[in-house]
Parts: sequence; C-alpha cells; structure tokens
Amino acid sequence: MSSYRSEYQRSIQHPETFWAEQAERLPWVSPPTRILEYDEQGHARWYADGELNLCHAALDHHIEQGRGEQAALLWDSPVSGGKLRLSYAELRDRVARFAGALRDLGVEQGDRVVIYLPMVPEAPIAMLACARLGAVHSVVFGGFAPHELAVRIEDAEPKVVVAASCGIEVDRVLPYPPIVRAALEQSAHRPEACVILQREQCLAELGEGEHDWATLEAAAAPADCVPVKATDPLYVLYTSGTTGKPKGVVRDTGGYGVALHYSMEAVYDMAPGEVFFSASDVGWVVGHSYIVYGPLLRGCTTVIYEGKPVRTPDAGAFWRLIAEYRVKAFFTAPTAFRAIKKEDPEGLHLKDHDISCLKALFLAGERLDPPTFHWLKGMLDVPVVDHWWQTETGWPIAANLQGVEPMPPKAGSATVPVPGFDVRILDRSGHDAPALEQGSVMIKQPLPPGCLSGIWRDPERFQAAYMAAFPGYYLTGDAGYLDEDGYLFIMGRTDDVINVAGHRLSTGEMEEVVGGHPAVAECTVIGIHDALKGQVPVGLVIPKDGFDGDEATLERELVARVREMIGPVACLKQVLVVDRLPKTRSGKILRKLLRHIADGEAFGVPSTIDDPASLNDVHEAMVARSLGSAERARQQ
Ligand code: COA
Ligand code: AMP
Repeated sequence: MSSYRSEYQRSIQHPETFWAEQAERLPWVSPPTRILEYDEQGHARWYADGELNLCHAALDHHIEQGRGEQAALLWDSPVSGGKLRLSYAELRDRVARFAGALRDLGVEQGDRVVIYLPMVPEAPIAMLACARLGAVHSVVFGGFAPHELAVRIEDAEPKVVVAASCGIEVDRVLPYPPIVRAALEQSAHRPEACVILQREQCLAELGEGEHDWATLEAAAAPADCVPVKATDPLYVLYTSGTTGKPKGVVRDTGGYGVALHYSMEAVYDMAPGEVFFSASDVGWVVGHSYIVYGPLLRGCTTVIYEGKPVRTPDAGAFWRLIAEYRVKAFFTAPTAFRAIKKEDPEGLHLKDHDISCLKALFLAGERLDPPTFHWLKGMLDVPVVDHWWQTETGWPIAANLQGVEPMPPKAGSATVPVPGFDVRILDRSGHDAPALEQGSVMIKQPLPPGCLSGIWRDPERFQAAYMAAFPGYYLTGDAGYLDEDGYLFIMGRTDDVINVAGHRLSTGEMEEVVGGHPAVAECTVIGIHDALKGQVPVGLVIPKDGFDGDEATLERELVARVREMIGPVACLKQVLVVDRLPKTRSGKILRKLLRHIADGEAFGVPSTIDDPASLNDVHEAMVARSLGSAERARQQ
C-alpha cells in the first residue's frame, strides 16, 4: 500500500491513535490523556484535558531548543520601503512586552482583542501577545469598511482594539483611525482602549482612550505564557456566510496547534529552519494558519510581505522575495498568478532571480484554473499544488501531500483528502455519489483537530449552517466530485458565497446593502466569471414604483453604498436596472440561471419558472452591458 493510503486509512480508522501520536509533537504544559470526545450535540472535542500555550509552542519552546538566533520573521514591505528581520528571541521579547502592555490595559485570559492592522510585523506580534495571555484575538482584514468592523466589534465585544495609523495600498496611504472611530460610533459595544501603531507614512493624532503602541510597549514588563485548556478559544475569525451577519469561526488551541504542526510536515514538507512564504494577509485564515502559527510552530522562518503580486513594483515581486529569502515553499492564491501572467505572460521577470531554493508552490483560496496551472507548470520546475480548504477547517482538506507521498497532479483537482478528513460526495438524498458524479462535498464526523469548534456565541447557527443538512456530516458548502483514482475536484459553492480575487464574500450580504437603498424594490447579486479575479459580483435591481431618477445615478449610488458599507474588496462595479427578475412560482429568484446567462453559457428554461418572458428582459439588459454574450464566454 502506498504511504499516503496507509497514513490516510490509519487516520480514518483509528483517529484517536493517529492524533494522539501527532499531539506528542507539541510542547504541552500538561499532555492530554483524553484524545477525542464529543459534546452533547455530537461535535468532536480534541484533547479535552490537555493544557498548553500556543505562543510558548511557537516561540519560547524553539528558543529553549537552541533556535533563539534563527530568523523567525522576515518582513518585506515595498510599499513603505521597510525591511526587518526578527530572530526567535527578538520576536519573543517583543511579543512578551506587548502582552505586558495589553495586560496593563486590563486584558486577561478569555478577553477578546480586535486587531485591525496591515501586513506589518506588529500584526503577528499582537496575535501572539494575545495567545500568550490566553486572550482571544479577532483579526479584521484592512480592506473592510467601518460597518464591517463595527459588526465584528459588536459581536466579539473586545476589551481592546489594536490598529495602525495607516495601511498602504499600491498608490495611496489609507488612514485607519477614522475607520476605527466610525466603526465604534456604529457599534453598541465600546472597548476600554484602542492601541494605535504609529507609522511614519501617516501619523495619527490620538484621541481619548487611544494609546500609542510604542509608548505602551516600552513601558510594559514582559508577560509570561498563561497555560490554557486545549479546548479554549485561540481566536475568532469572521467569514462570510449566506446572510448579512458574518460568522465568527471559533478556533480552539490544542487541536489547531497539533493540526498545523502536522500539516507543515505532511502537506508542505517543511522542516525547522526552512523558510515558508505565504503571500496572503493576516486578515484571512491563510494568514492565521500559514503566515503566523503554522510556520512558527514548526520552527520555520516566515516571510511577512506588505505588497502586491504586481505593481510593487512589478510582476517579478514574488520571484524577488523567493530568491532573496531562500524560500522553500511558497503559497498564494491563483488570482495573484493570473495578475502576474497578465503583466508578464512569458515569465521574463523570473529570469532575473535565482529561485533554485523553491521546492514547491501551493495555491488555494479558489480553484486553481487549468490555464493558470499549465502556465505555472510550464515555467517552474517544482510541484504546483492546488489544495482546498476553508476558514472553517483552518487547514487543508485536500492536497497533494508533499511530505507524505507526492502524487502526479491532475489539472483542476485538489488531489486527495488529507489524513483526518473523511471526505464524501453525497447526492440530494444523502447517499454516497458514484465516482465522477457531482454532489455536495461533506466531511464525515468526527472532524479532525484544528477545525472550527463553533460559531462565536451562536451554537444554533453552527448546527444549522454546517451540521443539519445530513446528520453525522459537516457541510462544506462546496460542490464537487471524486474521480476513479480518488482525486477530488471542487467545482464551486452551493450557497451565496463568492470568491473575488481570493477574498471570500457573501452575495447575500451585498443584497442586504443594495436592497437597503430607498429606491430599490427588489434585487439580487450574483457572482459571475472574471478572467482576473475568478468571480466578481453583479447586481440586478428592480426600482420601486414611481422611480423617476436616472439609472446611471442609481447604479453609481449602489456601487458607492456597497463600497462604503462592506469595503473596496467587495468589488461591486456593475448594477443593472431591470423590470423583473426570473423567479420560480414560489417566488425564489433563479440565481443559478442568472449566472449562466451572465457568463454567456447555454441555459434551459426551467419548468418551475413563473414568467418565462422575464428571461428575455434580463438577457437583453445583460447583453447591453457586454454580459451574457457568447463573445464574453469565449474570452473567459
Ligand atoms: N486594505 C485596504 N484596501 C484594500 C486592501 C487592504 N488590505 N486590500 C485590497 N484593498 C482595496 C484595493 O486597493 C482595491 O481598491 P480600489 O477599488 O480603490 O482599487 C480594492 O480593495 C480591490 O482590491 P483587490 O481585489 O485586491 O484588487 P486589486 O486590483 O488591487 O488587486 C490582485 C488584484 C489579484 C493583485 C489582488 O487581489 C491579490 O493579490 N489577490 C490575492 C489575494 C489573496 O492573497 N487572498 C488570500 C487567500 S490565499
Ligand atoms: P475561505 O474560507 O476564504 O478560505 O474560502 C473557502 C472557500 O474557497 C471554499 O469553500 C471554496 O469554495 C473556495 N476554495 C478555497 N480553496 C479552493 C481550492 N483549492 N479549490 C477550489 N475552491 C477553493
């Protein structure tokens, strides 16, 4: 039997033994004796009686093992011109002092801290400082607007908010304090303090309750690690669901640590001392798992990049970083490479850099489309690994496991289920679908360590969103199929979640924002194909009776509204005004059909449609805006 098969089978047939062995790799304060238990709703709880501190496992432990002088973090910021190397000892010292500063502000074990920071070294420092105290961090992505930040603050009820004076995009400096202050005005919850990291590109004038990071850190005494239970929350990370309210994914501490440590070895084939570069953002799950915790738990060096794949300064930026820092494994989203391919289709920039250090390239966040896969394969001499996972799971569900047994890749497939994940394709009636038949991708319980332990303070939503569809299975929300060789193909979401340039967004949430405009009677937002970003949202609205404004103005207002309330990352740029929307007789908008029309795909008229003529209206409106034509479909 192949090494992958035997490892996988062992993990599924004997999960307790498998994960008890993996747990031995972490430095526990009190090692677990109870490995797997179930709560009253039947959800797996890993390592219930274990105690540890993940900041200790990520930093102090390596220093104790003699890695104090090794680089823990390499920061590279073309947008600010900054670079920084922090050894494990230096990083631990800064983390311990900032933890002391948070403690001075009253932060204790179990308290929440919201972190709204760009890709600066202080982002992992703040996260690890929370972990050191046993406090729960909740990082919010910088591209979200005040309203989104407010929703998260209200739900997480942080004692402290940590922000920077600004973020830096390619062509502009974005002051953050006005966003934080606006969010706090909208939120019913008030934190006790805000900490502001001053950046020279835009110094902030501090107001009441706002403290300067550097002053606090300089004055604080270093804090020790507080041991916590394995099942205590390490963080809450909000992600888009089907409604306007994002879901606060709760991550436990022990299971997450064990899973990440395992994945660094099994999936990414990383050893202590090697350099891992994940070009994402700390505001996303990739940032949590594979910029901060994963590499550090494994004793690797992590690269923190404040820049873009292109325009900072050019399409050779990733190659430059890989060569300069001798990166062994590189991880990004396919959209980033589509942006590079657009600017440098021949890969000319690659020739300026010696990337012989690179041993594998990993892609996730959206499906690695076959053209981008082939382009990368043609250019690079290393495995190009598409791997599939989600905020909820925290680590890969399917991958080509470089540290267990690399397999021949298949374009469009995330390869095989990762040990621990019993992946099933279920048909509508909940039976296993045969090979090659598309169905709902489910994970049979128990979920392995590292996956979400709940939705923050909302056990009903956890149950309803993930566990209720088919008892005994976790619903991933993705559709896909397994082929005869057991390779998994993920084909897209079954809900209202879309992926725009690797950013997970909810069309349901955008519909709430668009529908809140006083002139809108009814609306829908769909995700359509985009050659660069994978998907982009498009709105369709029916104005209220008596609307006599002009359509272009309404469109501009709706685009601005989504940008103001959700943020620039939402990328809603087009809104079409229509007289009616195609619906079923029971009044459900036929979104899938609308997507097919917009993407220029062939579509049939469903028998359940209430008013078939509405399809022509919508089609005409789309063609008038260069959507829905066969020409566009060819361009995709
Ligand atoms: N803070 C503030 N604004 C941000 C932001 C941040 N952290 N990130 C993005 N934005 C803004 C951008 O400036 C842009 O604003 P604009 O509409 O005024 O131009 C808008 O949000 C859309 O950004 P984006 O979707 O990133 O488009 P882009 O054209 O700037 O860049 C890519 C396109 C493909 C280069 C970029 O999206 C990218 O690098 N994607 C990879 C994403 C990724 O790594 N995801 C993590 C999953 S692994
Ligand atoms: P996020 O929670 O932001 O990581 O987004 C998770 C969703 O992104 C998944 O449910 C998928 O729909 C999609 N996704 C992520 N990685 C992949 C991949 N490798 N292949 C296909 N879809 C992916």
